[in-house]
Amino acid sequence: MTNQSHKIASVVGARPQFIKLAAFHRAVCTEPALTHVIIHSGQHYDHDMSEQFFKEFNLPEPNYNLGVGSLPHNLQIARCLEGLDAIYEMEKPDLVVVYGDTNTTAAGAIAAAKRNIPLAHIEAGLREFDKSIPEEVNKLITDALTDLYFTPTETGRQNLAREGRIKNVYVTGDISLDLIFHENIKDTDSPVPEPYVFATCHRASNTENRDRLKEILTALGSLGKKVIFPVHPRTRAAIESFGFSSLIDKEAIKIMEPCGFFETQRLIRHASFVVTDSGGVIKESYFHKVPCLIIDSQTEWMETVEEGWSVITGPKKGVIVQACKEYKLPGYHSNCLGDGKAGRRIVEKLKEYLNIPQP
Ligand code: UD1
Repeated sequence: MTNQSHKIASVVGARPQFIKLAAFHRAVCTEPALTHVIIHSGQHYDHDMSEQFFKEFNLPEPNYNLGVGSLPHNLQIARCLEGLDAIYEMEKPDLVVVYGDTNTTAAGAIAAAKRNIPLAHIEAGLREFDKSIPEEVNKLITDALTDLYFTPTETGRQNLAREGRIKNVYVTGDISLDLIFHENIKDTDSPVPEPYVFATCHRASNTENRDRLKEILTALGSLGKKVIFPVHPRTRAAIESFGFSSLIDKEAIKIMEPCGFFETQRLIRHASFVVTDSGGVIKESYFHKVPCLIIDSQTEWMETVEEGWSVITGPKKGVIVQACKEYKLPGYHSNCLGDGKAGRRIVEKLKEYLNIPQP
């Protein structure tokens, strides 16, 4: 084997992927035998949804930005495919890494498979068993084309095994938790206000459905606690287009712009409760041992429900309010989602796969 450098191309495009990319990039940078090319699809483009994270994590500017922007799903994937194909042709990566379950992920996977470039999927194997969810379709497409599966949990490994995928499957823990383990998360001196609930909402099933969004917004105003609610751009647009601004109880709900990763962790950590439909926020609440009400009909992070840290309420006002009142803290927390070493494990397996000798 020569000392030649191997080129890994990461394909990212949406907020949760910048977080996973940050952890992966740090692990890759310690490897002289690996070169890392970062391709941003441009699926997320607002400062608060994209650039903020590159700055916060000291990530280099992406080598490419396709600038696909907001489009209907198939068109967004098509634009990504077109741009990625040209970049793969130019860069000739030895391996492509995709993350999670977005349209960018699916496009990154298809483009790699069509060019016979080995594909690694970080956050493989997660399933919600409902193909009406856009992310579920992306997960299925991506795992069908993946060569190296990095799954955060044992549940992920079992899901893959059920689909006959048993080769090159590695349970690594969740890579975004690496950042919480390794960063010295400072509590700023600013006092956290009186007990509050931290809320987020962005899933298409909640934001595109008038009745559900109404239930969620009125539930947030009825929890009997102050609510801190950073609003995703799609949710803000939905609130405006449904004419729901007046439903938001301004006394009870503090609306804010989407915040950075570490500020989000601080707000989760000090909350009495979290209310969310975001997979990332569900697992971070579990990590910080803060109860989480899941305003969705299912989750891919069932471990958190089984241990009693999360409760699936769905987007129903009555159920959300009641769950908030009746919730009892569980006596057990297995820390099963990660130990801060996922990035390292992934890089080791990539080196093995690429036949890079150990020093
Ligand atoms: C996407 C992912 C979802 C992920 C989420 C994290 C898919 C199918 N969905 O959902 O899995 O959990 O990112 O946020 O890939 N918008 C802006 N500015 C932005 C980004 C989005 O205004 O920077 C608005 C646009 O109105 C856009 C809408 O949000 O039409 C939806 O954006 P899109 O990227 O398609 O999906 P997300 O809801 O962000």
